[in-house]
Amino acid sequence: MKINKAVIPAAGLGTRFLPATKSSPKEMLPIIDKPAIQYVTEEAVQAGIFSILIITGRGKEAIENYFDVSFELEKILEERGKEEELKIVKEIARMADVFYVRQKEALGLGHAVLCAENWIGKEPFAVFLGDDIIFAETPCIKQMMDIFEEKNKSILGVMDVEREDTSKFGIIEGKKIDESLYEVTEIVEKPEPDESPSTTAVVGRYIFTPRIIDELKNTGKGLGGEIQLTDAIKSLLKKEKVYAYRFKGKRYDIGDKFGFIKATVEIALKREDLRKKFYEYLKELLRKY
Ligand code: G1P
Repeated sequence: MKINKAVIPAAGLGTRFLPATKSSPKEMLPIIDKPAIQYVTEEAVQAGIFSILIITGRGKEAIENYFDVSFELEKILEERGKEEELKIVKEIARMADVFYVRQKEALGLGHAVLCAENWIGKEPFAVFLGDDIIFAETPCIKQMMDIFEEKNKSILGVMDVEREDTSKFGIIEGKKIDESLYEVTEIVEKPEPDESPSTTAVVGRYIFTPRIIDELKNTGKGLGGEIQLTDAIKSLLKKEKVYAYRFKGKRYDIGDKFGFIKATVEIALKREDLRKKFYEYLKELLRKY
């Protein structure tokens, strides 16, 4: 079965980025000149997913405006002959069909995904967490979609982390099928390093069979008093197989200040228009420190 729909939870308060997130959504913080949420949206589009549901909350209107047509701006750019800028602005509004639903209470990631229930129906779907930006030759979600086509079961994107970092992630235990694929046997949300079953961490890319929705409905509050997606996955794997796939690519945690800086610096060094100038500047700067 093909994956045609993606859900992007974006209702979080962004407390790690206060005060910047006091009045603007964290998903709109720019990495150079593109808001964070555009990177994940582009990954979905590159993988051929054009129906995207963003789970928003109060104070997130800037996201809706961003993916809408900006009539006045387009008109002014047109009049001024700013063709390049006009093209960029127009493409954003036309890249995908973006839908919205509000998560009315901050009850956790699992609850956010459950808000997609009616929109999902009985189809398998992808979930992207906007804090995780992944650069890869083949978009990470596309790599996972290829496996889904063969297995028709839920797939979790995973990577290896340092043991001291297990308490920041959902951690899996699994039977190794090949170099990059596991059948998940256990999953725990943010275990302490000395209690963690492994160092294989779930990052923000998931493909789910619609059955996850039933599991979410029966998931009570877990870690931090929130409805955890990880807990629903734990019940799902008792009913059907769940796979974990070690994707090829580099992931940045832009929900973390240091991760945000790393993403900004590396993207600047990759970008044709900035690379040379920025590289020279960094070299010069580092001499002084
Ligand atoms: C969430 C999930 C966690 C996952 C992580 C990936 O945690 O709850 O299982 O490993 O995303 O980034 P958060 O980072 O939102 O606290």
